[in-house]
Amino acid sequence: MSDARIVLSGMRSTGKLHLGHYFGTLRNWVALQERHRCYFFAADWHALTSEYANTSEITTWTVEAFADWIAAGVDPERSVVFVQSLVPEHAELHLILSMITPLGWLERVPTYKEQIRQLDNRDLGTYGFLGYPVLQTSDIILYRAHFVPVGEDQASHLELSREITRRFNTLYGEVFPEPQALFAPTPRVPGTDGRKMSKSYGNAVNLSDGPDEIRRKCMEMFTDPTRIRRKDPGHPESCNLFEFHRLLSPPEVAERVARECRAAAIGCVEDKKLLAEQMIAFLEPIRRRREDLLRHPAELLALLREGSRRARERAQETLALVRDALGLDYEKLLSRSVQ
Ligand code: TRP
Repeated sequence: MSDARIVLSGMRSTGKLHLGHYFGTLRNWVALQERHRCYFFAADWHALTSEYANTSEITTWTVEAFADWIAAGVDPERSVVFVQSLVPEHAELHLILSMITPLGWLERVPTYKEQIRQLDNRDLGTYGFLGYPVLQTSDIILYRAHFVPVGEDQASHLELSREITRRFNTLYGEVFPEPQALFAPTPRVPGTDGRKMSKSYGNAVNLSDGPDEIRRKCMEMFTDPTRIRRKDPGHPESCNLFEFHRLLSPPEVAERVARECRAAAIGCVEDKKLLAEQMIAFLEPIRRRREDLLRHPAELLALLREGSRRARERAQETLALVRDALGLDYEKLLSRSVQ
């Protein structure tokens, strides 16, 4: 492992984790631990970009997300799991990077204008929001990471991170590896209404949902819109329920459902009930583990503190290199003047 490449990834602490996070991110993190030195963090400062007016739940979201990660298989001994704001070096590096990042580069990020439009109930016209990709760059290169597992939607941010990194290296010397995107195959995870699963659409199944909640949400799910009567044959390939079966039911169950749906041998209501039981079985071990972890918050917090300490060690090493490269190394100057 000593010469393994470094992987870094984070999630914003903006709410409970759901199946979209599980299939889109967490499952991939768990796999990456086998081959790389991984740093995974809760981006609580990034959460502030949208949640600055109501910060009361951010720490809870962070701690619960941490429990979800471990419950899903992230190993806090093997990987370094930490909280962004417990490593203040993120902010120092962000400040330095902000000096060398042209405004034009930030304004042309495609997600920037788009998100401002989407989240129109909140004021996103802030300096911090424009600088979101600069902070994200700092998160990555602070650990001198080689790989960043990201979804397609983050590709433009990572491209910008590479540009900022190149600019730093050109100006001050080769301090940082240029981070590369790792695009894992991430399936589309629909929400209960068929749109992408997302907290803001209110269509999510959370990792913490118990059996009753899962049954209720499955019963509300949208199904094949062309199957109007029970005796009409269904089209699993365009049905929300079937997308879930494919993600989380045993393959033989998914195949049987597809066959019986096409033959109108199983109805949508029956299928919803069946899916609910599959989902409950799938989530049960994760939910139990997260509950165990959250029952002993002192132990969980100790893991978080230890992870953040390990992260900070590497971050401080990097900043010593950065100060040296910039020629702003007062440590050296001051120790010389003492002699
Ligand atoms: N922007 C990411 C998200 O919304 C979170 C994030 C912050 C991140 N910093 C990062 C992801 C660095 C990868 C690397 O989910």
